[in-house]
Amino acid sequence: MRILICDGLHPQGLDILRADPDVEVLAPDQPSAELIREILPECDAMVVRSRTKVTADLLENAPRLKVIGRAGTGVDNIQVQAASARGILVMNTPGANAMAAAEHTMALMLALARHVPQATQSMREGRWDKKRFMGTELYQQTLGIVGLGKIGTIVADRALGFKMNVLAHDPHITPETAAILGTEWVELDKLWSRADFITLHTPLTAETRNLINRDTLSKMKKGVRIINCARGGLIDEEALYEAIVSGHVAGAALDVFAKEPPEGSPLLRLPNVIFTPHLGASSTQAQENVSRAIAMQILDYLKRGIIRNA
Ligand code: MLT
Repeated sequence: MRILICDGLHPQGLDILRADPDVEVLAPDQPSAELIREILPECDAMVVRSRTKVTADLLENAPRLKVIGRAGTGVDNIQVQAASARGILVMNTPGANAMAAAEHTMALMLALARHVPQATQSMREGRWDKKRFMGTELYQQTLGIVGLGKIGTIVADRALGFKMNVLAHDPHITPETAAILGTEWVELDKLWSRADFITLHTPLTAETRNLINRDTLSKMKKGVRIINCARGGLIDEEALYEAIVSGHVAGAALDVFAKEPPEGSPLLRLPNVIFTPHLGASSTQAQENVSRAIAMQILDYLKRGIIRNA
């Protein structure tokens, strides 16, 4: 069985695959789309992170392909319907990097509240600007979480530890379950209007694209702060830019962008927006976890027909 590793995979996962005598691992360094297209017809499985786009067109010439493994959570870089139509299974590892994404969300929320990156930059420039960086506490502030899945649930728990009031919206979770998690289930409109901080933890789908837009922004409290460690397409970036410039939104912390990298985005120029380059899953532990999980899942499927999404 030949397995093509398209994006960087932690050595722990590679070692699991290489240790199997029935497996040949092809792991070219940062292969171009052309190289992937050339090699894929001879492969039984491919492993991707977010860099490689798995399109219907690419899959047309993959007669041996049985499984696409996403070493991570979001599968929006894979045309899942096209894969399914060809009988190719798409699997991801939704639990394996949840802690990393949730902790990054908390890091951004705190950094946003207390202007940590801006203050660092100011000191690098030789200043000692104590007055300029007056912040806000998280204590007793209301956090609105959109998406109470694996990541949203950890964020809720950590926010409760900071004694925030936590509102949650998730169409797949009942108010009772939300209450067990210490949160209050609310309709989206209520979440927009009551939250001081809003964080997104929902996949990017046709329904959630541009979830934060001019209309929903206008329903939010003046001074709201927005954190996005999920997917860039969830926010209409032009509308967010306008809302920040007008002062309606006090700030935003963005790990993800509609186009990555977000070259030329006017958001990059706003002093009250802080950024990281899609680092949600970038912890050593998360990369070890996702690589091991996807390697074992792929072997289980190819060798034993067992389907798991860890
Ligand atoms: C994910 O979906 O797992 C994260 O966004 C991290 C990544 O893209 O690898």
